Amino acid sequence: MLSLICILLHVGGTILHWRGEGGVNYSRDLREGELINAMAVEGLPDLCRAGEKRWNRDLGLEDLVNSDMLQATAKHIPPKAVSRCALVRSSFRILGIGDGTAKSAESAEEMIHDIHFCERSSWCVRVRDYRDPSKTLGKSGFKSPLSRGLERDVCEEIAAFTGHFPQRVNLKNPDLQFYVFLLPGGTVAVTEKTGDGNPRLSEFAPNTRKCVTTTPLEPIAAFVMANLAQVSTTSNRVLDLYAGSCSTLLAAGSLINGATKLVGIERDNEWMVDFDKIIEDFEFRGLQAPHLIRGDCRNDRVLKEAINAMGGAADAVVADPPYGFRETLDSNESTPLRDIVTLIGRQAKLGGTPLLRPGGRLVVFVPIMNHEKLNLTKLGVSEKLLSEAGLVFSSSHAQRLNANLTRYLTAFDVKEEDQI
Ligand SMILES: C[S@@+](CC[C@H](N)C(=O)[O-])C[C@H]1O[C@@H](n2cnc3c(N)ncnc32)[C@H](O)[C@@H]1O
Repeated sequence: MLSLICILLHVGGTILHWRGEGGVNYSRDLREGELINAMAVEGLPDLCRAGEKRWNRDLGLEDLVNSDMLQATAKHIPPKAVSRCALVRSSFRILGIGDGTAKSAESAEEMIHDIHFCERSSWCVRVRDYRDPSKTLGKSGFKSPLSRGLERDVCEEIAAFTGHFPQRVNLKNPDLQFYVFLLPGGTVAVTEKTGDGNPRLSEFAPNTRKCVTTTPLEPIAAFVMANLAQVSTTSNRVLDLYAGSCSTLLAAGSLINGATKLVGIERDNEWMVDFDKIIEDFEFRGLQAPHLIRGDCRNDRVLKEAINAMGGAADAVVADPPYGFRETLDSNESTPLRDIVTLIGRQAKLGGTPLLRPGGRLVVFVPIMNHEKLNLTKLGVSEKLLSEAGLVFSSSHAQRLNANLTRYLTAFDVKEEDQI
């Protein structure tokens, strides 16, 4: 009889191993939000535009082995989408499942015709032992250590499956990586690793950068933001209203990897935020440098300069405004989110080139104290203000930062011309 886990696993579906265990535990909400938006860029835009909430449900990610670090979905997830994501460690295509290794390998043999290999292809087998859910995750995110003997035994048990491949085992850099997941209750999944998450994260750590500020966005958050903004080669005009040391623009530039029109606005003086050093940070990583503007992003002259520098309206506007007393919902001050929506509305009213093109996206970090729910009205952003800016609320993804603070990554879309 198939165990409950078997019911969650489907041949052709995907096992996702998330990054972010230990240290900060990135929320499930944020992980799924990043993945869905990366998938929207890499092949499934219609579903995403149909509404992220429904999309989340359609993706149907289910926890495996009492841990949401390992999840399964019946859907195929494009490797290119995975490679954009900061919060995905690796993805695996399920080739075979069953009660016991032998049955799982037998089921995987039926998928041989669907695996791309040739006579010169090399391969290796790795085993991941999740049979005991009480075991804690190791540094690499896997339940380890794994005994050599176990790996050898599993390899022998799946020999009929691996016998279909040329005798070219390569443990260091194989063309095909088969992973055998040993799951509770005797369930086994034979999988093929299809992708790794974004490989460039460590290149962007603040301590590797020339421009040092007191509030740089950590690389994971910067990539999640760039993914939520859906930056791509065809959506490459990106404006950061509160650029600081430009973590988000670095992430956006790295995702686009080609011609970019990145523009950052920063109010602080040269001593606090050194533009020359920021340019070096881009050039050192082989990225096209952004156009940087010194000024207040709420100023129309500054915004006009940004539009000119992009050569048109932005595809995406991103904002990581300063934290401070305005985090509370009770303050009478205007909030950065209100400032941003207001300035987009004002630009739209001026009648020239708008700040954001129709169909474009605004993504803002909104920190809120005491883990209160995001409430746009309380933040001074009424339906009327949104409508004047042509914006429609799209999604918000919560991430707890500490005992008092939750940060919401909040996305709005500009109505397409035919919707106005
Ligand atoms: C939270 S930090 C942004 C950090 C940035 N994401 C990074 O990775 O370095 C906010 C930045 O916005 C700048 N700032 C604050 N108010 C501004 C305004 N009205 N216009 C432009 N920049 C502003 C601050 O000087 C600060 O550098």
